[in-house]
Parts: sequence; structure tokens; C-alpha cells
Amino acid sequence: MSYANLIVEQRDAVTLVTLNRPQALNALNSEVLRELGEAFATYEADSSQRCLVLTGSGDKAFAAGADIKEMVEKEAADFYLEDFFSGWQTDVVKGTRKPWIAAVNGFALGGGCELAMMADFILASDKARFGQPEINLGVAPGMGGSQRLTRAVGKSKAMELCLTGRMMDASEAERAGLVARVVPHDELLDDAMKTAATIASKAPMAAIANKEMVNAAFETMLEQGLTHERRLFQILCASEDKGEGMSAFVEKREANWKGR
Ligand code: HXC
Repeated sequence: MSYANLIVEQRDAVTLVTLNRPQALNALNSEVLRELGEAFATYEADSSQRCLVLTGSGDKAFAAGADIKEMVEKEAADFYLEDFFSGWQTDVVKGTRKPWIAAVNGFALGGGCELAMMADFILASDKARFGQPEINLGVAPGMGGSQRLTRAVGKSKAMELCLTGRMMDASEAERAGLVARVVPHDELLDDAMKTAATIASKAPMAAIANKEMVNAAFETMLEQGLTHERRLFQILCASEDKGEGMSAFVEKREANWKGR
């Protein structure tokens, strides 16, 4: 499938999706978000694909936010009646059960930061900059920034970033727990693809279950989360891959995953 605003490639079991509007610093307009939805749905449905990496084209930006030039034309009624971005968040992010990584190669601002935070984890180039500068436009985050950033970095820093609109650099983001790791800019894509290949080499059901249980930590109380984890563990123990993985360890050989 070809896209106007994305480059989508499959490298073995890893899908690489590149936001491709470098002239607008990969700003997210409705068309980009619609295409992203299609690319994620294709990834989810293709059993040969086991991890996805999302990055930005050009040297400067992952995504500099929702497209301000598109939003400036809209009135409140348009945002409300379209329930702007809601379908996309639900379908793409919550609906994607398989793992995906955001490889943040530059500015991740506003909707760009929010998009990165929807990933299972963020790998950042040392040139990455994160922020929720919507207040500078007279608005506020609308794609989860106030909620996901606060859960990731805590109230004080999230509040400071939202209220001042300032950006934080990659090392501050790493210290704050927003990103999993920072790597030198030129090594980001290689590192992200290798990390994704590692994930893709694991038992696929186990990957989905690991993702589901870590996410449950954000959506349940501790007791419920612990029960959820235990049940998923028990379900995995009924999989062929549990037998294969444990036998392979005992027999000192590589596991040959069946995917079920
Ligand atoms: C549309 C954008 C854009 C955006 C940059 N561009 N960000 N276009 N929407 N979010 C365009 C610029 O207009 C310009 O095109 C080109 O990209 C290069 O940008 P410059 O500003 O010339 O680059 P630079 O001086 O290096 O500054 C980089 C920057 C700045 C600091 C990232 O572009 C910036 O502040 N961008 C806006 C960041 C922002 O406020 N994001 C939040 C958006 S609101 P032209 O053709 O004009 O030269 C949001 C809400 C989400 O995301 C919730 C919705 C529900």
C-alpha cells in the first residue's frame, strides 16, 4: 500500500513507518492520522510482522504537533462534531495489541509528543526535544498529553511543561522517565530497528501479553492488575510456546516459536 504522507517498509518481521512531511516538520494533519490508522491496522493484521517502529523523516522532527494550519481554519463546532482525533486514538493506539516503538529523532511537540507517548516505549535521539506547547497557541493538549505526560513524569514536571510551554531535551526526558533510552542521533534508527528485531524474535503471544499487563498497571488498581497479570501468565502457560520456550532452555537450544 502506498501513502502520501508516510513511508512504510517491512524489514523481516519489523514494520518501519516514517512520518513524511519534512517541509512541515511532520505536523499531523487529518490525512496523516488517517494514513497512520491504515498503516497500524495493516501491521496488526499481518502475522508476519511482530514489531513496529514509528519515526519522523528529515533531521529535525519526529512531529512538531498537530497541524496548526489545518486547525486554524476549524471552529469549535468542527472539533466537537468531528470529535477531533478521538477515533484515531481509540482505534490505532488502544486497538494495536502488538508492540510498537516511537523512535523520536527531533522535535516531539504537542500532538507529536502525545503520539510518541502512545507508543509502548520511546527511544530518543540526543537531539530530541519534547514538550506540550499548546498553551502558546491559547489552547491545551487534546490527544492525551495532560494525562500520559503526567503519568510518565509526575505532576510537577508535567504541570511546568504544560503551563510554560517549554521544551525538554532528551537527557531531561530520560531522567524524568519519559523515554526508555537516549542514543546518539545517527544511531537512533539502527538501534530502534535492532530493538524491534529483538522484540520480534520473542514468542508473539507472550509479547502481546507482556504489553497488555504492563498497560494494565496504568488502568487498574494494584489488586486488579495483579490478578490480570496472573491470569495472563496462566493463559500463556497453556500455549505451545511455553512448552517450546522452557524445553529449549532445558535442552540448551534456541526456541522455535509457533506463535500460539
Ligand atoms: C503546521 C508546522 C508546525 C505545526 C512547524 N510547522 N510546526 N506547520 N503545524 N505544528 C511548519 C512551519 O510553519 C514551517 O513551514 C516549517 O514547518 C518549519 O518550521 P519553522 O518554524 O520554520 O522551524 P524552526 O524555526 O526550526 O522551529 C521549529 C519549531 C516551530 C520550534 C518546532 O516550528 C514550532 O514552534 N512549531 C509549532 C510547535 C507547536 O506549537 N506544536 C503544538 C501544536 S498544537 P512554513 O511553510 O510556514 O515555513 C497540538 C495540539 C494537539 O499539537 C491536540 C489536538 C487535539
